[in-house]
Amino acid sequence: MKFFLDTANRDEIRQAVALGVLDGITTNPTLVAKEKRPFREHILEICEIVKPGVVNAEVVSTDTEGMLREAHELAGWHPNIVVKVPMTLPGVQALHVLAREGVRVNVTLVFSAAQALIAAKAGAYFVSPFLGRLDDVAQSGLGLLREIVEVYRAYNFPTQILAASLRHPIHVVEAAKMGAHIATMPFKVFEQLFKHPLTDRGLEGFLKDWEKAREVLGEIVEPAGARKGGR
Ligand code: E4P
Repeated sequence: MKFFLDTANRDEIRQAVALGVLDGITTNPTLVAKEKRPFREHILEICEIVKPGVVNAEVVSTDTEGMLREAHELAGWHPNIVVKVPMTLPGVQALHVLAREGVRVNVTLVFSAAQALIAAKAGAYFVSPFLGRLDDVAQSGLGLLREIVEVYRAYNFPTQILAASLRHPIHVVEAAKMGAHIATMPFKVFEQLFKHPLTDRGLEGFLKDWEKAREVLGEIVEPAGARKGGR
C-alpha cells in the first residue's frame, strides 16, 4: 500500500519524507488555501520535496472547458503532478478527454460505488472515495471502499483506489486489508500509525534497567581513543 499525506503544509511533508515511507501528496483547494502562498510556486515546491512521489493538485473550474484549461496547465508544471477533477458530469467529460491525452487524473469527491465505476470506465488514474465524510453522515466509508474494491477486481480495472478522508489508523489498516492501493491521510493520522503506548512503556523499562547497570555494561560507543588495544 502506498502512503500519501493529505496536506499542503511543507513542514509536515518534510517530516514525513524524512521517515522514508511517503509515496505522494494529495492537496485540495481547502488545504492549499490554508498555506496562503501562490499556488504554482507552492505546488512546485511540494513536488521538489516529495520527488519522485506524485503530487495531486485540483482544478477549481466547474465547467468542462475550464477544467481542461486548468488541467493542461497543472499537468505542464511538473511531470509528477496528477490532476484532480471532481466527480461531476463536466468533471467526467474532462476526464474522458484528459485520459485519452495521457494526462493522469484523480477523480475526487467519490461517495458511491456507481460513481467509482463511472470514473474507472472513463479512464481515471486514481479514484478517491471519501471515507470519513461518509462516516460523518452515518454511512459506512469502509463499506463503500469494500464495494469499490469488489467491483474493480471483478473487471480488472487499472484505476488505483485511493482511500481518502481517513480520520484514524483503523481506516488505514482496514483499507490496507481490503487491498486499497493508496491511503491518503492527515499528518496526525500518519504519526499515529507509528505509535503504541506499549512501545513507549517498553522502551522506558529497557532504558531504566540499562541505566542501573551502566557501570558494568560500559558504553556501546566508547568515546574516541578510549578503547584499549582497539582497531
Ligand atoms: C483527498 O484527496 C481529500 O483532500 C481529503 O482526503 C479530504 O479529507 P477531509 O474529509 O478530511 O477533508
